[in-house]
Amino acid sequence: MTAQLFKNARIFSPVDAGIPAAGKDQGKIRIHDRGALLVGNGLITDVGDMDIVRGRTVMGMIDEVVDCRGRTMIPGFVDPHTHMCFTELREAEFELRMAGTPYMEILAMGGGILSSVKTVRNASEEALFEASRRRVQTALRLGTTTIEIKSGYGLDTATELKMLRVIDRLGREMPLDVVPTFLGAHAVPVEYRDRADAFVDLVVGEMIPEIREQGIARFCDVFCEKGVFSIDQARRILEAARTAGLGVRIHADEVHDLGGAALAAALGAASADHLLAASDDNLQRMVEAGVTAVLLPATAYSLRKPYARARHMIDAGLAVALATDCNPGSSYTESMPFVIGLAVVNMFMTPFEALTAGTLNAAYAIGMARSVGSLDPGKQADFLLLDGDSPTILAYHAGVSPITAVYKRGKRVF
Ligand code: NIG
Ligand code: FE
Repeated sequence: MTAQLFKNARIFSPVDAGIPAAGKDQGKIRIHDRGALLVGNGLITDVGDMDIVRGRTVMGMIDEVVDCRGRTMIPGFVDPHTHMCFTELREAEFELRMAGTPYMEILAMGGGILSSVKTVRNASEEALFEASRRRVQTALRLGTTTIEIKSGYGLDTATELKMLRVIDRLGREMPLDVVPTFLGAHAVPVEYRDRADAFVDLVVGEMIPEIREQGIARFCDVFCEKGVFSIDQARRILEAARTAGLGVRIHADEVHDLGGAALAAALGAASADHLLAASDDNLQRMVEAGVTAVLLPATAYSLRKPYARARHMIDAGLAVALATDCNPGSSYTESMPFVIGLAVVNMFMTPFEALTAGTLNAAYAIGMARSVGSLDPGKQADFLLLDGDSPTILAYHAGVSPITAVYKRGKRVF
């Protein structure tokens, strides 16, 4: 047993009541101004005011004492929605978009997601791993200690499996938890153009059974959007996934209000993501079903769309999580601090609500809240030290990371 004591920290942690923190509870943060965290074998064994933790600690048993010198300590970020597994960037497409061409038009012309599909299909597994590894490393430096990564740039069985193997390897070789999501229905590939139903047959009849066989994904996601997959197609895929033992989540109501939020509620999905265009009625259905809203403000920023109505959602009683959506098209950022800044400044979330959204609620959204997402005994000692008096520094110090140290399971990884 290795025991570590992290002393003299200003500790801020969401309160884990066993369910995602919704409505008013989202802004509740436990604070220890002069706090300490006790860690045994990478897990938190005690946390609280320094004197009280010290009083409960047999100092002779401690192998390492770390003085946090008054720095702010928060849980490591959980990024619950990324597409980080890809090779080439799409800078020229960004220029087109900035000059006014809509994102969905670029996709309809065979660019966008489909251009990444071409490059990922052609990439060797090693090259795909190396490109993805560098991005995950960037995320780690920016405080992400648990990450969800989706497939979805293969759109054929072999390439989807190649991506999921790479994602699995990232989790094994890098010092963070990686949660793999199968997103075979990310776009209709060119060889199935105008035959979306036949492609859905392939996803349901071949990809999902193969993934179940290999046990290589934990969730299944669908891009449900006008011109991509309909509500009925999404339901078919997600029901098949659930039968195969996968958790389900959905890209819902990003551009058009198709009713993806209502579908997520009907299926009891782990999350509904984006929700820029979701209606009040359908958001209410999510509240009733206890579905977490995963909001992606860096996507609204990059697409120049109105932000999701986070203030309204929290006031209506939803649990809101935040994610980067890191991908080469609509949101090229690995930075949770950037996302938190956008959430506070442009979506009117409080700094404490945003902290909960990027840690505890994000952990719930990907089924990881038992082991990460807050600083509570029994969970992993995943935490960050910030150069600032409180988590507010994340939004306040714009475009700059205040993170001075990143710990995963008690081990310093940055
Ligand atoms: O979440 N909406 C669909 N998928 C991604 C974009 C992926 C891409 O453009 O490569 C998103 O925004
Ligand atoms: Fe996405």
